[in-house]
Amino acid sequence: MRTENGQIIHLADYRQTDFVLERVDLTFELDPTETKVEARLIFHRREGADPSAPLVLDGDELVMTGLLFDQVEMDAARYDATPDSLTIRDLPASEPFEITITTMINPEANTQLMGLYRTNGVYCTQCESEGFRRITYFPDRPDVLSVYTVNIIADKASCPLLLSNGNFLGGAGYGEGKHFAAWFDPHPKPSYLFALVAGDLGVVEDTFTTMSGREVTLKIYVEHGKEPRAAYAMDALKRSMKWDEEVFGREYDLDIFMVVAVSDFNMGAMENKGLNVFNDKYVLADPETATDQDYANIEAIIAHEYFHNWTGNRVTCRDWFQLCLKEGLTVYRDHEFSADQRSRPVKRIAEVRHLKSEQFPEDAGPLAHPVRPTKYREINNFYTTTVYEKGSEVTRMIATIVGTDGFKKGMDLYFERHDGDAATIEDFVKCFEDANGVDLTQFSLWYHQAGTPLVSVSSSYDQAKGEFTLSLEQMIPPTPGQATKEPMHIPLRFGLISADGSEARPSAVTGAEVTGDVLHLKERRQTATFSGIASRPVVSLNRSFSAPINLHFEQAPADLAHIARHDGDLFSRWQALTDLALPDLVEAARRVRAGEAVEPNAVLADTLIAIAGDEGLEPAFRAQALALPSESDIARELGSNNDPDAIRAGREAVLAFVANRDPAVFARLFESHRTAGAFTPDAASAGQRALRNAALAYLAVSDGTPARAAAAFASADNMTDLSAALTVLAHRFPDAPETAAALETFRARFADNALVIDKWFSIQSTIPGEGALERVKALMTSPHFNKANPNRVRALVGTFAFSNPTGFNRADGAGYRFLAEQILEIDPKNPQLAARILTSMRSWRALEEVRSDHARNALRAIASGEKLSSDVSDIVERMLK
Ligand code: ARG
Ligand code: ZN
Repeated sequence: MRTENGQIIHLADYRQTDFVLERVDLTFELDPTETKVEARLIFHRREGADPSAPLVLDGDELVMTGLLFDQVEMDAARYDATPDSLTIRDLPASEPFEITITTMINPEANTQLMGLYRTNGVYCTQCESEGFRRITYFPDRPDVLSVYTVNIIADKASCPLLLSNGNFLGGAGYGEGKHFAAWFDPHPKPSYLFALVAGDLGVVEDTFTTMSGREVTLKIYVEHGKEPRAAYAMDALKRSMKWDEEVFGREYDLDIFMVVAVSDFNMGAMENKGLNVFNDKYVLADPETATDQDYANIEAIIAHEYFHNWTGNRVTCRDWFQLCLKEGLTVYRDHEFSADQRSRPVKRIAEVRHLKSEQFPEDAGPLAHPVRPTKYREINNFYTTTVYEKGSEVTRMIATIVGTDGFKKGMDLYFERHDGDAATIEDFVKCFEDANGVDLTQFSLWYHQAGTPLVSVSSSYDQAKGEFTLSLEQMIPPTPGQATKEPMHIPLRFGLISADGSEARPSAVTGAEVTGDVLHLKERRQTATFSGIASRPVVSLNRSFSAPINLHFEQAPADLAHIARHDGDLFSRWQALTDLALPDLVEAARRVRAGEAVEPNAVLADTLIAIAGDEGLEPAFRAQALALPSESDIARELGSNNDPDAIRAGREAVLAFVANRDPAVFARLFESHRTAGAFTPDAASAGQRALRNAALAYLAVSDGTPARAAAAFASADNMTDLSAALTVLAHRFPDAPETAAALETFRARFADNALVIDKWFSIQSTIPGEGALERVKALMTSPHFNKANPNRVRALVGTFAFSNPTGFNRADGAGYRFLAEQILEIDPKNPQLAARILTSMRSWRALEEVRSDHARNALRAIASGEKLSSDVSDIVERMLK
């Protein structure tokens, strides 16, 4: 266990290693509890390095049983070995030498799921970021690239399959029921991309012919019997490979590409060279067990990991501070892929919803950090939505600034210059500067300054002069360690919409640089004047969310309704609807708290209903429009002194007003958007289902009885409709006999499918209100629950803490105390999982006093726990600071 209170690592302290690692030869003799690992490492001292510097290798909980220097046992006086490091002295000044290290590890006892572990009888590895050092002593850092040969010896009956990175060299029997296989990966890679899988799995096979005509074997490994459920992942993989060739000119570079799905995994998936390992949740799907959202996630994550082959593997990171170099860029690439495969505006709406509900709160709370941080205590805690999603938005802004062609040129230069390198953010940005002759110095502040910029805007129109004026001011809030900020370069897409719905084209603009439809806000305050505007326009600002900012722009409800109904950009229509809804929802929460009656606004309800009923618009968009801003969106808008019960009650009042405004519209949508015939997971069919289920949620409110949802549950022929109906039943009618019956039918039908049972857990753990905690506690005693499995824990405990604002934030603090107990129990076994779930409390300071006192006490209880992991202590200490 890593219980050492890790010291802080600083970017400024980066320096190259003293030794270059030429080659790596690994031999694994796999055994559930006593796996022997022999690592033969060939090094030479880097030119110019201190000739007396020792070789210091990283370890973590290691037991060494042998150490050779150039094949001869090493003199004990020349080295020091502890569980977490190996230091060797008196090494040659320039000529290469070989170190052979033997370690013994216990995969069965590895509950952290980092390094080599066992899941359902399968050996598998997870090395990013620092898991390789749990296998052998090694320079375990991303700037040490080497060529690997891997030999695997294992029991033939239980492990017919022996896999590692690269190309298969050969295999043979190995006496006494054992066999062996050898793999060679010709591409130099850092240790975090190493992978090994051994076990007995089923496989789905296919091929892909690359743009230069090479045939690549594709294999997806899953548990026996689950092969049919890997078909969609395979299809997504082939589409990803094609797309990366067409859009980025990137071809796959090995003879084989493998994906292995495992059921115990700390994260979504991992891009190991040629051998991706996936949480099976992001591979397995069929209509009976997967929702449309599951299909979309599989498509996106398969693409993401595949795209890493170029952005991450061929060009990797110099150090972990550069994590966004691969993650932000690769998220941007998978976003673009999904946008091309599906509906671009609908995809963008989903991205922005996610960014605002996850990244904005992180950026506004105690865990805020820059996209490119400068220090960390535990790197595992930096796989954050800021590094990933904000990192993607920053990449998107570069594309907005230099344009589509300019972005392509910059990317080409990046691959040309840095293929085979461990690069930095500065290297990346330089490629766009050099390819386009632009200066991105100010823009780069997006990597370095944390916090979501607030842009305040006001406008005026001078009829006599035909001039329209926008006054803009930017403010970047203080964040931990960054009290003051410099003004940033904020690219704002915009449109000026005339009364008839057409776009006004200004004859000239002064006061701000405008290129095409982008206004570049660069100073703290700027006033842009547009001339040649014949009538007062309505501004549609930050179109397609070109910059990840908060916008304060007091637009009249009538103007917002105008944009919501007429903007040419569907994303802007959704955004205007949100801007229309949020002030109402905030006001409703305020009134509930003050004991006043909520008076919902008819403009919002009518605009919403008009859009929902507009058959000219795609159903998926209309479904998004119907989903009011969430309770956490409202909390974020309120900013401080939040009462989750009042937020919910206010939102419920607005929702009920909409539901009762014209129930016939919802009934018509519900009836007319059934998908007929066999299930297909394509975006258009998914949109039909989304609209129908959004209508069902409103109808449950106007009906006031569970009958319609119970009938929908009974007649559903796919998991999307089934789980949507079950959610409506459980969340609207938790005590109805229909709900109890449906929950039991669902459980019994899917008792053997852990991924579906996770939905059963999540639907119940998110039932709002007081009783949620007792329900969660009762579910933890269910035979379906397994606290050693990360998916189960996330589905029940994680979902409760992250997605049940009223249940979790109970005024008596019982939710926080429960979470504290859970964290302290999970931490010794799986620190990464514990730390991740703990981040659900990142907005605790924005709660009203009674709750925030309880939250602080629960955090203090965690902080005073014995032997905390560095993962949990890092998070809890930052949260309390
Ligand atoms: N690189 C993986 C991805 O594609 C995630 C690895 C997460 N690692 C961790 N230690 N949390 O996003
Ligand atoms: Zn990634």
